[in-house]
Amino acid sequence: MVKKKLREPLEDHKGNLYFDGVSTIDLAKTYDTPLYVISEKRIQDNYNRLYGALVNNYKYVRIYYAAKANTNLNVLRVLQSQGAYLDTVSPGEVFLALSSGFTPDRILFTGTNVRNDELKMLADANITINVDSQSEMDRLLKISVPQILSVRVNPEVGAGHHNHCITAGPESKFGLWEEEVIQAYAIAQRARVERFGIHMHIGSGILEFEPYVQAVEKLLSIAKRVHKEVGIDFEFIDIGGGFGVPYKPKEKEFDVQEFSNKVVNLFKNKTKEYGLGKPFLFVEPGRYLVADACILLTTVNTVKVTPSRKFAGVDAGFNTLLRPAMYGSYHPILVANNLTATSTETYDIAGPICESGDLLAKDHSVPDINEGDLLAVLNAGAYGYSMSSQYNSRPRAAEVLIRGGKPLLVREREQLKDLVTNQKMHGEV
Ligand code: LLP
Repeated sequence: MVKKKLREPLEDHKGNLYFDGVSTIDLAKTYDTPLYVISEKRIQDNYNRLYGALVNNYKYVRIYYAAKANTNLNVLRVLQSQGAYLDTVSPGEVFLALSSGFTPDRILFTGTNVRNDELKMLADANITINVDSQSEMDRLLKISVPQILSVRVNPEVGAGHHNHCITAGPESKFGLWEEEVIQAYAIAQRARVERFGIHMHIGSGILEFEPYVQAVEKLLSIAKRVHKEVGIDFEFIDIGGGFGVPYKPKEKEFDVQEFSNKVVNLFKNKTKEYGLGKPFLFVEPGRYLVADACILLTTVNTVKVTPSRKFAGVDAGFNTLLRPAMYGSYHPILVANNLTATSTETYDIAGPICESGDLLAKDHSVPDINEGDLLAVLNAGAYGYSMSSQYNSRPRAAEVLIRGGKPLLVREREQLKDLVTNQKMHGEV
């Protein structure tokens, strides 16, 4: 077998996997599994690489981390201290943002099908809103007229790693279409909103630049029309997130400098050509900042060979990491205590959930697996813990943060008692 090349922060120490300088075997012994392990340094590196590449071509750039990818308070805090802003989608995310130290002026809200009480809470907290429909704008303006307002545009081009994750184009529920957008700004202006932004987010897990080129062109042509026909200036233009990371061995990196050269330069040239001044360019990456900064450790408890398949049964299922079951997503998996093994076998890696779809991987090529082995599921930092559940009444996993080469428990493993929190039994039946 060709030995897999490990990339930072993964390291092979005599056949054992280290993550950001810490032995995964020790982590599993100390904290048990399933366990999410987060590298603070990798998040910082991802942020700085992206920011550096963008700012190289345009000075007025802000990164709004899409909190939904990973809302661990420490992840939020690390990004905040790097200089990030935050994109949120629910009152819960706003609450976590404020709890982690983000001030309201650094938080954006891009919800969909938002309730009035949620709009009121956002207005009271002075949080800038990207409205997703005319209905949302009308209801917001009745509750309170914000100083600044932004409209989410459907630029008619979407992209993403799975249909569920394409958030623009004809099938999408998100955003307003061109003619509606013009109307919306006119209404906001009549209502005496003073400052404006404009927003799009075309999808998630995008590894090519072409969809961004097309969508940015469309967004800016709409911004130009609004500027001319309604007579307003844009303080910011938000082109969303969606920057992919390679999961499969053959996928290549999303080269952020190349992205910047193509897309940020296009933005710079077009805003100038269209007389849009020098608005802030906002981007909203989630996955790019956190996916490869976290692994999921899980222990093999059962090896089962049937006439047609070979299963490695582990203690993390789609309750812990939903992506493979929900989108058929591929995550690389290593045998953390046996990196040097040369033989390869093909396994289905199955979790403890009582559904046949509960596979972390199908036909995964790994060295021969034994009961007691420790597996590391890579690229687990984005939409991992944040999409986990208590399905099958399994308490959620614990999370550890590696800071300066030392592990810190940042989220306790849930206990059985957490399964009854919020439940009430009502008397005799
Ligand atoms: N901005 C908005 C308005 C979004 O809806 C999203 C993601 C992002 C930014 C960040 O997208 P990212 O840079 O992380 O691709 N659960 C799926 C991904 C769903 C993404 C939803 N919206 C997955 O596990 O692949």
